[in-house]
Amino acid sequence: MCGIVGYIGNKEAYPILIKGLHRLEYRGYDSAGVALINRRGELSVYKSKGKVSALEHSVDGKDTTGSIGIAHTRWATHGEPNEVNAHPHYSMSKQLALVHNGIIENYKALRAEMEKNGVVFCSDTDTEVLVQLIEYVQHRHECGLFEAVQLALKSVVGAYAIAVLDKAHPEQLICARKGSPLIIGLGTSDQGAHEFYLGSDATPIIEYTDKVIYLQDEEVACMDGSGALEIVNLANVRQTPQTVTLQMSLDELEKGGYPHFMLKEIYEQPSAMRTCIRGRLDIVDKDVLLSGIIDNKEKFLNARRIIICACGTSWHSALIGKYFIEEAAQIPVEVEYASEFRYRNPVIYSDDVVIAVSQSGETADTLAAIQLAKNRGAFLYGICNVIGSSIARATDSGTYLHVGPEIGVASTKAFTGQVITLFLLGLAIAKEKHTLSDEMFHMLVDELQRIPDKMQWTLDHNPNIDQFAQMFTYCKNFIYLGRGYNYPVALEGALKLKEISYIHAEGYPAAEMKHGPIALIDEEMPVVVIAPKRGMYDKVVSNIQEIKSRHGKIIAVVTEGDNTVSQMADYTFVIPDTRDCYVPLLAILPLQLLSYYVACAKGRNVDQPRNLAKSVTVE
Ligand code: G6P
Repeated sequence: MCGIVGYIGNKEAYPILIKGLHRLEYRGYDSAGVALINRRGELSVYKSKGKVSALEHSVDGKDTTGSIGIAHTRWATHGEPNEVNAHPHYSMSKQLALVHNGIIENYKALRAEMEKNGVVFCSDTDTEVLVQLIEYVQHRHECGLFEAVQLALKSVVGAYAIAVLDKAHPEQLICARKGSPLIIGLGTSDQGAHEFYLGSDATPIIEYTDKVIYLQDEEVACMDGSGALEIVNLANVRQTPQTVTLQMSLDELEKGGYPHFMLKEIYEQPSAMRTCIRGRLDIVDKDVLLSGIIDNKEKFLNARRIIICACGTSWHSALIGKYFIEEAAQIPVEVEYASEFRYRNPVIYSDDVVIAVSQSGETADTLAAIQLAKNRGAFLYGICNVIGSSIARATDSGTYLHVGPEIGVASTKAFTGQVITLFLLGLAIAKEKHTLSDEMFHMLVDELQRIPDKMQWTLDHNPNIDQFAQMFTYCKNFIYLGRGYNYPVALEGALKLKEISYIHAEGYPAAEMKHGPIALIDEEMPVVVIAPKRGMYDKVVSNIQEIKSRHGKIIAVVTEGDNTVSQMADYTFVIPDTRDCYVPLLAILPLQLLSYYVACAKGRNVDQPRNLAKSVTVE
């Protein structure tokens, strides 16, 4: 979703803000803007449609001096993506400028009331309502910015992370949050002076400091140029913030020689998975050590059900997790789209365990789904990648993926990290419940340990996907088929392709093909079939025959050494043999690469596909 950056200190703010916007661009990118107060006390707002580079271009030659500023990259919700609707927004008098991430639900009522009292609006956004409201409150209550922000936010319904500047107080940067993340970085300049950085996440901050404060819901912070920081809640009660040390490194945020973050993240998967299982798989003693399960053993042993709530790619990994947990730990598992779950009054028992799977840990629907489950007394477990994210903090316990920051909008290493984490979880519960024989448990532990090497093998043995992908750039549709554990892989393969190449693609359980999709098959239709020499191999071979006889083009993912499917298929990707349940971790790799190279061949912006956002903090 939208990204916020802020700075107050004794450095020039503009370069810090622009660099921060570039780092946050993966969150949203249809317009960008910056507000600065220069040393003469003038407040300037510059904004432009499109990417951060367009903003930089438009600002060329203008006064960008000043050591206090806020900036924003937008993913439109209210109002089309244009310059007027871009942030920062001025108040009517142009005394204030504000950036906002989130949605103000009662903005129409607030706007109507202010319009009645003479306030004039110039954009369609809910954000402008916020900045006007703060100024309106300032005038009515004759108070300073810090107090006005607190009072104004009391009448706001919705989600927000905001940062505000007031021309009258060039020494103060005010921010607040509810439902949308905001992080304050505590820095020290070369001259030893205190300075503050602000970010929607840690990526724009990490270059300058690893000491941060995660602002909590309904907290308002005042960062002062003198180095003072005051945080209060909406009732003006002073809060004691906790300073946290970030574990992320700057290197992890750079492209490392790859043309796109997505390609880097695809190739990082073997090493990221090693980190994900490090300390959790004990190969010597053949054990799985997951502190979240060890500490909450009774909750899992007594669980009537597990409900997994997720969205997008995370929903696909959850589906693989369901198959495995049911098979290994014999607990019924339901996988829910968080956006549906939160609104349909679901049955939730107090002895249910509800797991939220979310790379960002900020997805609004997933967060709301677990809040609903919490109100019904369920035990909440989070599987997130972003440390300290809202979902990680809202859950009773959980497991981090530890796969490093994922910047490409299309999820790759977070998907495989989620799948591995769900396998670890299933194995850890199975061990406690004794639902697997020792022999099977040890075999699964051993094989999971080998998966990162097998991922590397897969990446090394499918070399010409870039050339092969060229042939598919003119296709309008793709079908992806898989059975059992590979049905979610078909869904994920199709999602990857449509997300970044904009080619329509659908994933199906292979046997469902005859109930409808078969009607679509002709010589124009590529059908990607995940056909490992495991599980329901013979049945998948029959499905391939049905496609062949209708002249569909077969792209098959096969096990190394397979001749049957390789001879039937027009193109094959190879993976090494592994246990049935672990095939998704290998089969998805060539499918990620296929999507990547088709999208590149079509000239798409792979890391920042149109209309998508990395972190969807609105419902
Ligand atoms: C967005 C992203 C997807 C992601 C989904 C869920 O739509 O573009 O890649 O799968 O959100 O995100 P989460 O952070 O909850 O896993």
